[in-house]
Amino acid sequence: DHTGTAVQGVGNANDGRRAEGETAQTLTTRQGHPVTNNQNSRTVGSRGPMTLENYQFIEKLSHFDRERIPERVVHARGAGAHGVFEAYGAVGDEPVSKYTRAKLFQDKGKQTPVFVRFSTVGHGTHSPETLRDPRGFAVKFYTEDGNWDLVGNNLKIFFIRDALKFPDLIHSQKPSPTTNLQSAERIFDFFAGTPEATHMITLLYSPWGIPATYRFMQGSGVNTYKWVNEQGEGVLVKYHWEPVQGIRNLTQADADKIQATNFNHASQDLHDAIERGEYPQWELLVQIMEDGEHPELDFDPLDDTKIWPREQFPWRPVGMMTLNRNPENVFAETEQAAFGTGVLVDGLDFSDDKMLQGRTFSYSDTQRYRVGPNYLQLPINAPKKHVATNQRDGQMAYRVDTFTGQDARVNYEPSLLSGPKEAPRRAPDHTPRVEGNLIRASIERTNNFGQAGEQYRRFEDWERDELVANLAGALSECDPRIQARMLEYFRAADADYGRRVEEGLKEKAAQRPSREQQQQQAAQAAAGLGREAKP
Ligand code: HEM
Repeated sequence: DHTGTAVQGVGNANDGRRAEGETAQTLTTRQGHPVTNNQNSRTVGSRGPMTLENYQFIEKLSHFDRERIPERVVHARGAGAHGVFEAYGAVGDEPVSKYTRAKLFQDKGKQTPVFVRFSTVGHGTHSPETLRDPRGFAVKFYTEDGNWDLVGNNLKIFFIRDALKFPDLIHSQKPSPTTNLQSAERIFDFFAGTPEATHMITLLYSPWGIPATYRFMQGSGVNTYKWVNEQGEGVLVKYHWEPVQGIRNLTQADADKIQATNFNHASQDLHDAIERGEYPQWELLVQIMEDGEHPELDFDPLDDTKIWPREQFPWRPVGMMTLNRNPENVFAETEQAAFGTGVLVDGLDFSDDKMLQGRTFSYSDTQRYRVGPNYLQLPINAPKKHVATNQRDGQMAYRVDTFTGQDARVNYEPSLLSGPKEAPRRAPDHTPRVEGNLIRASIERTNNFGQAGEQYRRFEDWERDELVANLAGALSECDPRIQARMLEYFRAADADYGRRVEEGLKEKAAQRPSREQQQQQAAQAAAGLGREAKP
């Protein structure tokens, strides 16, 4: 069940024909040869040796040897689900068409199928889901105009505002190249030189850094996008997902307790809830801002280290998403799913947010490597609509993007003979004017600490207590130069914030072993564990 036609002259694989004596259950090789013995390799006598012409063995083992593809360089651990997005046909109490012509939003009750993948960021494919980490929230909408991906996280903001810094950020978060252990000192060494991360750190080291499960967290597009209407006029937008289930976060102690017995609790929670028929839902809301620089604001609307204050820019509902079906095959669907920030449909557009533009290069680039150059032909990534391109060949080309009746000789455009023709333009393009010198410079309104302080004051007491304890714990493992710089940042955000982390750090130094020392003690204890066994 795929769009496009099968590779010419080959027809569909697996058309269900069976040789005499075969049933639907008959085991075969990938060549369709019936397998009569799957227990014993072909050998000279019952004790061997094996022989090299052993096709069945070699096909089976060599395919197994290639079962893994590279894991995502970030967000390797994830869980996916299918569902549906239903539009309200309005943005709050205004018609949505005032701001965007994107078809999926226009009519009340209009349904668009979606696939969602939630994830943690830093560690590998089977790492614990209790770790302190931002959570990814990626949604693929299969619209009639092609796919739209909204690739976001649960914390509304990010650590950095220029994509050039992303590989350094991630290297500092990933396990150390010398020990393969994550290290607070490496993480905060990077943050000490990255004051714009203070807002994100304030969220990450609070209980918001460990959502209870994927069902109980918000999502956000984080970067600033645009909406474009029938007149080609654009506005700036930010997207938010609000969980109907509510928001729940874990203390570090809660998370440690869960991790002691289950390191897959979030994948399991999502899967089991859907199997029980308790379909999780998120409402999609947008914040809208007139296009422009907005000098009246104390932040830049294109800066992804900032939220847009809700009082000034209300969250306006546009639709509801329901997840109602688990993947049938985690590899084919969740693992091979490829989301990217460049994947927009008519009526949605990019802003000049530099992070967004940098991300947009990175996603499809990594996917051509991770999944392969024909990743968009896989059922999970292919749009659920007409596709006709002149892109051909490459590894694992699965079909040819022709339309029924196309002269197959024509794989170029223009052509008087046949081939796909350009689509008529539906409405005027959005054509913002851009002018300036080509330079390397930070944005002017950096305001690195203001919103971190506001967030610190907005927290409830238990959240602030957790934040201070978690930061003091992590910083206690760091070089004093790193500690001093980080304390400067917390003080700049809020005097009480800086004072409390400093006190916490002093207490840690005086009383308790650091987390690193605890881990060393645990490792030593582990070395002495167990009962000796004789060979
Ligand atoms: C995954 C790059 C910032 C959310 C990825 C992947 C790359 C990447 C290479 C792996 C994709 C794959 O293998 O399919 C970048 C770069 C960034 C950046 C270069 C900054 C310049 C962000 C931000 C967010 C985010 C700010 C949140 C708003 C995600 C999510 C995934 C992801 C949710 C996982 C998608 C999935 O489930 O397959 N990113 N990223 N990233 N990124 Fe980013």
